[in-house]
Amino acid sequence: MTTDNTAAHGAAPKDTPTEGDRPVVELRGAGKSYGNIRALHGVDLAVHPSKVTCVLGDNGAGKSTLIKIISGLHQHTEGEFLVDGEPVRFATPREALGKGIATVYQDLATVPLMPVWRNFFLGSEMTKGPWPLRRLDIARMKRTADEELRNMGIVLDDLEQPIGTLSGGQRQCVAIARAVYFGARVLILDEPTAALGVKQSGVVLKYIAAARDRGLGVIFITHNPHHAYMVGDHFSVLRLGTLELSAARSEVTLEELTNHMAGGAELAALKHELSQVRGVDVEELPDAGDLAAPTAPAPAPASSEGKS
Ligand SMILES: Nc1ncnc2c1ncn2[C@@H]1O[C@H](COP(=O)(O)OP(=O)(O)OP(=O)(O)O)[C@@H](O)[C@H]1O
Ligand SMILES: [Mg+2]
Repeated sequence: MTTDNTAAHGAAPKDTPTEGDRPVVELRGAGKSYGNIRALHGVDLAVHPSKVTCVLGDNGAGKSTLIKIISGLHQHTEGEFLVDGEPVRFATPREALGKGIATVYQDLATVPLMPVWRNFFLGSEMTKGPWPLRRLDIARMKRTADEELRNMGIVLDDLEQPIGTLSGGQRQCVAIARAVYFGARVLILDEPTAALGVKQSGVVLKYIAAARDRGLGVIFITHNPHHAYMVGDHFSVLRLGTLELSAARSEVTLEELTNHMAGGAELAALKHELSQVRGVDVEELPDAGDLAAPTAPAPAPASSEGKS
């Protein structure tokens, strides 16, 4: 049920190649070595339109390496990487973008002092058709940015305000709306909620769902199983560069997912380390079993929700 990597993906999609079912992006036994450091090994991943694929894992698990391969920053050194069923090997992020794969990095590439609408079009300013001499069509850019943000349900008072004055969550949302507007088919989000509070995280999760509803395949990287479970259709947990869990939503509960993230062995090791630190009472710390039920009164939400 839980740790069966090979069967979890693909079984249905591969054998029944209906259009909507084919993964846009797929990794088969993919891996990456930096010199003799093997950062990623034997990873299978399938990203489908209108689905959120969550990639979870602890620090150093290989999450960033995985998305660097898909976003064209690095190249895989083993296995296969396919887009629309065709093997690919991107030399630059621009090539990935050309295939509709857009990445929103945590340290967003925005210019804080520039207005929201200007950042929305940063690097892809509106041009009029095939004209070789570019002129900025400011009015059209403002109007379009406003429309697009509204389409995603993002309402900002004033698009003239510098993007630096928006909250981290709002900036993430602008970046998501931007990727949607520029025709992304696959949206990669590298820990978009990591630096955010509860409320702002909720807002970002809402737009992840909005992007999914507009047909994008979303790859959502996070440390947080609760965030993942709120929007995820599929969960891939990395540990030390390999896939330790790959499961559809119907195959895993939030409790199991949390347990996979907070593995018992690591917890014991942590407890041991903390015992060396003066002032930390390890007896007070939870056991692995306690962590399985993170919020005491949560009665296994997965079983009733299932898949939509
Ligand atoms: N350019 C590089 N050269 C050498 N080793 C690297 C390089 N990039 C990553 N690694 C190694 O690969 C492993 C996976 O790193 P990666 O950044 O993918 O992890 P991560 O899951 O994104 O972690 P975090 O949650 O801390 O961002 C780590 O052991 C890291 O040291
Ligand atoms: Mg990382």
